[in-house]
This record gives sequence, C-alpha cells and structure tokens, in this order.
Amino acid sequence: MISKVKSCGLMGVDGFVGEVETDISNGLPAFDIVGLPDAAVREARERVRAAVKNSGFNFPVKRMTVNLAPAHIKKEGACFDLPISIAILAASEQIDIDCPAQYMFLGELSLTGELRPIKGALPIAIAARDHGIEKMILPKENAYEAATVKGLQVYPASNLQEIVFHLTGQKQLAPCSVAFDEIFASENQYDVDFCDVKGQENVKRALEVAAAGGHNVLMTGPPGSGKTMIAKRLPTILPDMSFEEALEVTKIHSVAGLISKNTSLITNRVFRSPHHTISNASLVGGGRMPKPGEISLAHLGVLFLDELPEFKKDVLEVMRQPLEDGVVTISRINASLTYPCNTMLIASMNPCKCGFYGDSTRECTCSAVQIQKYLGKISGPLMDRIDIQLQVAPVKYKDLESTSRPEHSRDIKSRVNQARKIQLERYQKSKIYANSQLQPSHMQKYCKLGTQEKELLKNAFEKLGLSARAHNRILKVARTIADLDVSDSIRTHHLAEAIQYRSLDRKFWN
Ligand SMILES: Nc1ncnc2c1ncn2[C@@H]1O[C@H](COP(=O)(O)OP(=O)(O)OP(=O)(O)O)[C@@H](O)[C@H]1O
Ligand SMILES: [Mg+2]
Ligand SMILES: [Zn+2]
Repeated sequence: MISKVKSCGLMGVDGFVGEVETDISNGLPAFDIVGLPDAAVREARERVRAAVKNSGFNFPVKRMTVNLAPAHIKKEGACFDLPISIAILAASEQIDIDCPAQYMFLGELSLTGELRPIKGALPIAIAARDHGIEKMILPKENAYEAATVKGLQVYPASNLQEIVFHLTGQKQLAPCSVAFDEIFASENQYDVDFCDVKGQENVKRALEVAAAGGHNVLMTGPPGSGKTMIAKRLPTILPDMSFEEALEVTKIHSVAGLISKNTSLITNRVFRSPHHTISNASLVGGGRMPKPGEISLAHLGVLFLDELPEFKKDVLEVMRQPLEDGVVTISRINASLTYPCNTMLIASMNPCKCGFYGDSTRECTCSAVQIQKYLGKISGPLMDRIDIQLQVAPVKYKDLESTSRPEHSRDIKSRVNQARKIQLERYQKSKIYANSQLQPSHMQKYCKLGTQEKELLKNAFEKLGLSARAHNRILKVARTIADLDVSDSIRTHHLAEAIQYRSLDRKFWN
C-alpha cells in the first residue's frame, strides 16, 4: 500500500508544502527515508518506531520506504516525525488511507509518542493555507501561533494516540482559535518611561524623530550623560504595529524557536541589545544550522548596539549590507536563504577612549592619535547608514534638580503614531512602512524641496562641508520632521533641524 500525507518544511522564513509518501511491501524488514533528509530527519526512524509502538499501534515488520517530496529541497529538523508516523499508520491500514489527505501534520515525537514543539509553525501554517489546506494538526505549544492564520482550522495535540483517535473518529480534538481584538488591545507595560529623563530635550526630540521615521541613530557623549538610559526607553515611544507587521516579525521569531507557549503574535516592537562580544553569525544570521541573527530578530524594531567601538570591527562591517538592503542573504550548498532585517539601528559611543573629548566641563586626556584610532573603529561606510548623529551633552545640574515633570512616553508616542500613519498612507501602494526606507529614486517624488529650501541645503553643504552621502539622509529625516508637523511640504525649519543631525560628518568622517 502507498499512503500520502501532507507535510511542510522551512526555507529561510517561509514554509513550503511537501508530501510524505510511504510504501509498505512484503520483503525483508527495512525502513528507509529518502528525499534529502538531514541527520535529524534520518534519526526520525528510531523515534517513529518507538512512538508508534508505545502509543499502542503496530509497527509493520515489512519493507518500508518513506519518500520526502519535493526531493530537491533539503529537509531539516525533527518536524517530520509526525507526518511519517501518520503515513505509516495509513499505509498499514491502521487508519483509513484517505482520511489524512485533508490535513497538514507537523511535530516532533518523543519515544513514548508525546508531541514536542517545533520551530516555524507560523510560516508553515501560512504556506499550508496558501496551498489550499484547511486543517492542521500540530503540537499544542505551537497552536496559538498557527491559529493566527485566517482560514486554517488548527488542532492542538499532545500525543500521537490523540491524533489517531481524532482521525478514526473515536475522540475529536478541539480546534483552537485566537481573539485578535484582545491581542492588539493589550498594551505593553513598560517599567521605564521618558518622563524619568531630566533635561536632554534635544536628545528626546531626536529619538522622537527617529521613532517616527524608523531612522538609524548614533549617540555620542561622555560617560553618564544618559545614552544607555535614553535608548532603553525608546520602545515606549515606538509606533504601534499593524497586523501585517506583527505577522512578519512573528515569522522570524517562530523560525528561531523563540515564540513562547501561549503567544500567538508579537504585537509590540522588538528591542534587541546584543553584547559587544557577539559573533558575526549571531548578529547577522547563518551558522551550520542557519537561523536568523539579532539584526533580523529586531526586524521592524530596534537593534541597540551600546558602546559601539567595543564591537569587533568585522562584526560591524558584516552589518553594512543588510542595513542597506533590509535583508540578509545566507548562501548554502543547495540554496540561499534570506531573512528580512528592516531594523532601526541605535548605537551609542563615547567621543574618545577617556570619554571627555569635546566636553566643556572635563578635560580629555587622549592624544590626537588615540582619538583618531578610537573613532577609526567605526568605518565611514557604516557611518553612511546613520541618519541621525546626535551629540549628547552631560546632564545639567539644574535639570537634575528641577521639580518639573518631563513629558510622558505615551504623549510622545501619540505624535509618533500620527506621523507614522501619514507615512503608511503616503506609501500604501509600495512595500514601504517608513521614511527611512526611501530609496534614492523616491527622493524626487516624496522629498521635493522649494526654492528657499534648496538654497538652504546648498548653503549647508558648502558652509558645513557636508558630503554627498549626507544628502539623502538629510532629506529623509526632514520628511519625517515635516510629518511630525503634519506638513505636506518640507519647510526650511524642518530641513534646518535635519541638517543639525549631521554633526559628526563634518568633524571626523570627511
Ligand atoms: N537626563 C537624566 N535624567 C535623570 N537621570 C540621568 C540622566 N542622565 C543620566 N542619568 C543617570 O545617570 C545614570 C547613568 O547614565 P547612563 O548609563 O545612561 O549613561 P551613558 O551615557 O550610557 O554612560 P556611558 O558612556 O558610561 O555608558 C543613569 O542610570 C541615570 O540614573
Ligand atoms: Mg552607557
Ligand atoms: Zn579622551
């Protein structure tokens, strides 16, 4: 008998639908798995044999061949255990051979037949739905994630026996559903707030602009000026996520196996702050068993690199292309994978080794050579990717003493949300969410300047000695400032503020 059961695998952050074909014939007992299985899939033989027996079913002592189609895609991981078991039970007529056809099966099995959670349930569920499959059976830990896919009936299960009883009609599994209104209504509670930050109005304003347009920021300032403190409060003012954005982010975390048991969708923007000892593969993704790196886990959220010059230079260099393209491409032997990484980079650093170069209150003890060396760790091309360069001055004593309460995060966030909404409406026909994603070809259309504004920009270039690379950055940031001001056109004061955010260009990297 030959049985066919639908199954699915992962390629990058997308699922693909495949089939498990099982042929059982008379002959010397054997159990082979073909169709580019990796080591984990080959080991499925032992898990499946034990799980089937220990769940109270017969494991056929015959010649069995399991073929994983399509044969040209490498099958990775243990998620094929369940479909292989079901295919064997169908081919040996312990369940009706046609019954599994309407389902997609997914899950790792323990030797006792318990189901174990797998990675990538969400992208696989999306692929199943797009393939016209209506029902999916998978481990209960992954059920909420998969159930966010509209048009797919999701049945969570704990073990193989339950699934067989469901298929034979002895005892039905209960489908699981997700209340979308509730997920999006629950506001994230933060235990920090922008109102904790005294003074530093210009820094807070710059981060509001960055949050509104999704711009990359580098903060430079002496120790204790509040760079880390302020960056950690950024998530509290980031714009709300749309359903599509939440799906994109959840897919990446799902593939990385980071979705916790009762989570369905990630609805709050992610803030990742890796330590400076991080490896290239952990930052941008890859490795022997490829998985998304920090830069992709921070997709549509924030990647915070505190103390930027402490990171190894080559780690910073591998980030350049992904930051520009918004995707990471990883080459493999039979295919190449891509992970999205449309991330807001927030970095902080001291201006020199001792930290006080340019400080009006303390003297810098570094030599000119030492300063050059310190700053030289950040290459010009990486600086290219920074939209907002911010100099953070020490906190003023009078600000720290002041009793007036600074603005709350929720008030800043409402302005950010409004500005982001304007951008989403403007770019609704393209795949752009925010001004930071504008390409040079978009400038003429979306960042048009009047005569006065052109004159201002020209003067700034000549007087301040700005480089060509600063040009588009200034225009994009000015666009965001105009959006915060609910202004259709970019006016001189918008442009002037954006020009201010190029302070480092002039100093060090020209
Ligand atoms: N504007 C501020 N309002 C209130 N407290 C502040 C402010 N700035 C700094 N502080 C206090 O100073 C502490 C140190 O600030 P923080 O660690 O953010 O400085 P930093 O700029 O990151 O310094 P370093 O360069 O050494 O990393 C904060 O935890 C906070 O308690
Ligand atoms: Mg710090
Ligand atoms: Zn110094």
